[in-house]
Amino acid sequence: MKAVILAGGSGTRLYPTTGVINKHLLPIYNKPMIYYSLSVVMLIGIREVVLVVNPKDLDSFYKLLGNGSRIGMSIDYSLQSEPLGLADALLSAEHLVREDSVCLVLGDNIFFGHGLPDILKEAKAGVEAKGGAYVFGYYVNDPSRYGIIELDSEGRVVSLEEKPKNPKSNFACVGLYFYDEGVFDIAREVKPSKRGEKEITSVNEVYMREGKLRARILGRGFAWFDAGTHDSFLEAGEFVATVEKKTGLMIGCIEEIAYRNGWIGKEELIKLAEPLAKTDYGRYLMSLLEEDKDAL
Ligand code: TTP
Repeated sequence: MKAVILAGGSGTRLYPTTGVINKHLLPIYNKPMIYYSLSVVMLIGIREVVLVVNPKDLDSFYKLLGNGSRIGMSIDYSLQSEPLGLADALLSAEHLVREDSVCLVLGDNIFFGHGLPDILKEAKAGVEAKGGAYVFGYYVNDPSRYGIIELDSEGRVVSLEEKPKNPKSNFACVGLYFYDEGVFDIAREVKPSKRGEKEITSVNEVYMREGKLRARILGRGFAWFDAGTHDSFLEAGEFVATVEKKTGLMIGCIEEIAYRNGWIGKEELIKLAEPLAKTDYGRYLMSLLEEDKDAL
């Protein structure tokens, strides 16, 4: 399975800043937004990633992440010529995924919670073994602002509604999905919606109609943010700051995860930390060598 992380789009809800800077490069507290989605796929053990970007932002992303080898990964870039929707963005990555199953993540979504990697790994294994697709529901108070899923007792999705006036549940579909190899054929057939975008909901509907869309609920121990508005952007940053200051551990530190996964060794970690030696981030990376945080 490969991961496709979407970091294109227009980011209009964060204008005027995103008129000149791509949303996913803005800092959520102390690191670029894209680190958080990248760190989730790393935590599931996925090492091959396709990052979908707007052509004008390619240089910046490449400067930040390169080809991924610094953190023991392979990162390819796919250019989405225009922001024509999430299913269109996924399709732009098809030639790089090359008939593999996919973990699709929205680059502006931030996830946190003990046990999250295990839940995601289980879903990944399910799709790899049985095919189909997996989505995740998160309880929200204001369901009419989200894509909402309804589940049957076996965890199959029985309805999917985009911003419903009369929601059938309070479970919003978060920006992380697992699909079998068939997803590209499905995405190709999707017709643009009223707003002119190829919607990922339309892809999910096909899986649902075939009885192949399963879901897990992320319960109260998890935090989920879509950092695409000024308020949610600020909330996500405050959340990360609070947790990091309380625990002394970072959320979304890609170098740390690479090190803990064994994808880079001590020497590589030192090489990454040294240029940042005068910063808190660099000192944190160095502390991983000295302190035994493994039990945490
Ligand atoms: P959205 O938040 O739906 O769209 P956006 O990022 O363009 O923001 P806004 O609504 O404020 O204009 O996108 C969700 C994620 O998907 C986000 O990380 C950007 C990415 N994306 C693409 O990569 N390509 C696309 O065509 C679209 C629409 C989004």
